Amino acid sequence: QMDPIEEAKKRAAYKAVADHFNSNMRFVGIGSGSTIVYGVEAIKAHLEAHPASEAGHMIWFVPTGWNSRKVIEQAGLVPIAFDSLPADATLDVAFDGADEVDAEMNCIKGGGACLFQEKLVACRSKKFVCIADYRKNQPRLLTKWPSIPIEVAPIAHATVLRELKQLGSVNPKLREHSLAKTGPIQTDQSFYIIDAPFKQLLTKKDVQEGKDGSGKDGVWSVDALALRIKEISGVLEVGLFYGMNGDEAQAAGQQGGQKPV
Ligand code: A5P
Repeated sequence: QMDPIEEAKKRAAYKAVADHFNSNMRFVGIGSGSTIVYGVEAIKAHLEAHPASEAGHMIWFVPTGWNSRKVIEQAGLVPIAFDSLPADATLDVAFDGADEVDAEMNCIKGGGACLFQEKLVACRSKKFVCIADYRKNQPRLLTKWPSIPIEVAPIAHATVLRELKQLGSVNPKLREHSLAKTGPIQTDQSFYIIDAPFKQLLTKKDVQEGKDGSGKDGVWSVDALALRIKEISGVLEVGLFYGMNGDEAQAAGQQGGQKPV
């Protein structure tokens, strides 16, 4: 019997693919992590059951890192590197997992050390569809997931840590290997990851209702904090995804949010 969490991931993935994928698409983004593996499985099953209307039609799958590319290849799908996309190409959709998702479909990403390529691919897509199981749905970000992953240039990591503290992060840390291998972990860009804890992040609705998310006393709204961190020299990308065609993403994310029965 399947583990209930794995089953929830799978259910969310099949629902997301049924709602947001079709066999006549051209370019489809594939994220990273353990949940997207079910997304690729669902795409594969969908393609077998519903072939494209035009014979020989090709779909190119855009990976968001080394691992993601492996998952695409192992499913027998065809990858295309982000920087090999035709200049005028826009992705039809990007599917990806998340570490935590709030009521407005803002996400924390980067728990698995991929985030920069995920954001690149998401931003070049007409639609971003987040696939997440019920544990990850929370009213606000930083409810259960403790910190924001930030990808930084190795040479700048100490100054970035210092600036994050000034923004109110208590004890931000460079992510290191556990166990035998020592030293900072490296991303697909050979950059480092900092995990920065903050207080729970305010949503747009919180701000509309009059709460102050400008960083006073370390209280930030999602977008204000993301923009502020991005301004720090040495930061490549922040693991906060926000304002990405929320309605579409919501359907898949919240469906996945239902406990399996
Ligand atoms: C990778 O760094 C992330 O952004 C993943 O998408 C996220 O960590 C979700 O991974 P799981 O599906 O394994 O929980």
